[in-house]
Formats: sequence, C-alpha cells, structure tokens
Amino acid sequence: MDNQQPAIVANSLTKRFGDFIAVDDVNFEVRRGEIFGFLGPNGSGKTTTIRMTLGLMKPTSGGVQVLGMDVDGDTARIRPRVGYMSQRFSLYNDLTVLQNLHFYGAAYGLKNAELQESIQSALEMAGLEGREHAKTKDLSGGWRQRLALSAAILHRPEVLFLDEPTAGVDPVSRRAFWDLLYQLIAEGITVFVTTHYMDEAEHCHRLAFIQRGRIIAYGSPAEIKSGMMRGQVLEIAPSDAVAAVNALRAARESGSLPIEEVELYGSLVHLVAPDIKRQQRAIENTLRQAGIHTGHADIIEPSLEDVFISAMKA
Ligand SMILES: Nc1ncnc2c1ncn2[C@@H]1O[C@H](COP(=O)(O)OP(=O)(O)O)[C@@H](O)[C@H]1O
Ligand SMILES: [Mg+2]
Repeated sequence: MDNQQPAIVANSLTKRFGDFIAVDDVNFEVRRGEIFGFLGPNGSGKTTTIRMTLGLMKPTSGGVQVLGMDVDGDTARIRPRVGYMSQRFSLYNDLTVLQNLHFYGAAYGLKNAELQESIQSALEMAGLEGREHAKTKDLSGGWRQRLALSAAILHRPEVLFLDEPTAGVDPVSRRAFWDLLYQLIAEGITVFVTTHYMDEAEHCHRLAFIQRGRIIAYGSPAEIKSGMMRGQVLEIAPSDAVAAVNALRAARESGSLPIEEVELYGSLVHLVAPDIKRQQRAIENTLRQAGIHTGHADIIEPSLEDVFISAMKA
C-alpha cells in the first residue's frame, strides 16, 4: 500500500439541485493519517460533499477519488475500506449497545471470532464497557455518539467519515470525542470530519472551510491564519460586553472608528484592524462615552474563528 497516496482527492466536485448549487467546484486533498476537518455553517454543503465522496450521490460534475480509486466506478471496492457515521447516527434505539454492534458487524460481513473481537475492541476504544446491555434509547447523547463511532469502525476501515459527530453534544463529551479521534489517528486511520463548530477547527491537522458550497479557506490552522487574517486582533474585557459591541459598531458605522470587525466572544470583545494598537485610544473613548469601562486590552494571536468571521464577510 502506497502511504504517500492521498486518502481522498476531490476534483471540481459540484452538485446542483435544479438551479441551486449546493456544492460549487470544490477541490481538496486529504492526506493519509490526518484528521481533516470540513467546517461550515448549516446548509453550506458538508453532507452533500460527504455523500458524493461515499458514492451515495452522483456529482453533477467533477469527481472524487478515495484510496486512489474513482468513487464513480469503484464503489464496491471502496465500501469495505471506509467507515461512515452519518449525521443522525443511524442506531437502533430499541436494541442494546451490544445488539447494535452485532447488527453493524454482521452487515459488514464479520462473523464468529472476528466479530466478537471487533466488538470487544470497539467497546474498549469507546469506553462503553459496562454499558453493553443498556438500551440505546437510554444512553445520553455523548454515549450514543461513542456507540455510533464504534459501529462505524467495527470493520477497521482505513478512512472514516464522520458527519457532524459532535452536533448537539455537551462540551465535555465533545472534548472526549476528539480524544477518541486522536486515538484512531494513532492507529493509522484517516479521519474526515464535518462540523459547524468553528472552535473545533483548531483540533484538525488540516481543514477546509466551506460557505454556500464554496471553499473559502484550506490548509493547516497555521497556514490559514497566516494567509487570511487581514489585521491584528485586540481583545478587550469590557464591563458590559454586549453594550460595548453595540457602541463600537455604531462608532464604526458613523465613520468615527476605522476598524474592520467587532465580535462578541462570551464576555470578551474582539476588534480587528490593520493597525489596531493605534485605534486603542479611540476605542476607549467610544466606550467611555457609552458609560462602559474598557477593562484589560491585549493584542492576541487570532483564533481560526476570528479568521473565518473575517473571511466570511470579505
Ligand atoms: N436532495 C436535495 N434537494 C434539494 N436541495 C438539497 C438537497 N440536499 C441538500 N440540499 C440543499 O443543499 C444545501 C446544502 O445542504 P447540506 O449538504 O445538507 O449542508 P450541510 O451538511 O452543510 O448542513 C442546503 O441548502 C440544502 O437545503
Ligand atoms: Mg449536514
């Protein structure tokens, strides 16, 4: 097996639904052994791209290769070598954890000792031991997500596709889920994962950011940050962050404050401009006039979230 060969190559992948272009000339390459993130807001074309990549939907034009094979022609040869966790975790709620794993294992053609062994290692990997006999419907979102992941890797796929595996899952379980993905990578699996949580971008080795069907950023987090950020980020911790955002945006709109972005980050505010330090006095004055204390103010390394917000508006 040639490990230098990319796991996935998408070439001008395009999908139209009538006049609507859901996936628009999408190109990317996923390397072997990496976690590749496919990020984008709801409706941006993530699931449609996965479905074409798995051969579940035909592209309108363009094509995709998985493990060096054309998806269009070699679907039957590709299927046993990939795993897929779909967006709605297709688990059987009335079955127990073990019954679900038996069902999926059998569907992949696993039998007897091999099936038992796969199930055991999947249970261990996901930390589901002790829950084998729990009904799936009684599991929390986080545990259902782990079960769905176990089911998708029973046949030891080389490439794993995960469609929004962390959607609607609590932050602690999300974090634990990413740790599981790193374990899979350590075992040599390639992971293609979609998410609409921008903060998850930092966990990916490389990623593509898709908006309205088009890729607007592509590369490692560091490459994307250095290539796309149009200014410096000033982070402030004002006494009232929401009021501060409103006051700063009003000042920007009136032309009295030459800054490009004002974004709320919890109780903090991020401001972006090419030379933000020079605006600091004007920012403080704007806030003081609105009765808001600026709090601490620091130039920070932009997060990918800053970069995407800035790119989405460009
Ligand atoms: N079968 C379909 N027919 C028409 N429009 C569709 C179909 N599937 C998806 N779409 C549209 O394509 C866009 C992208 O959808 P999708 O790939 O599911 O986005 P995401 O997974 O990023 O949320 C959405 O606007 C969606 O409504
Ligand atoms: Mg989707």
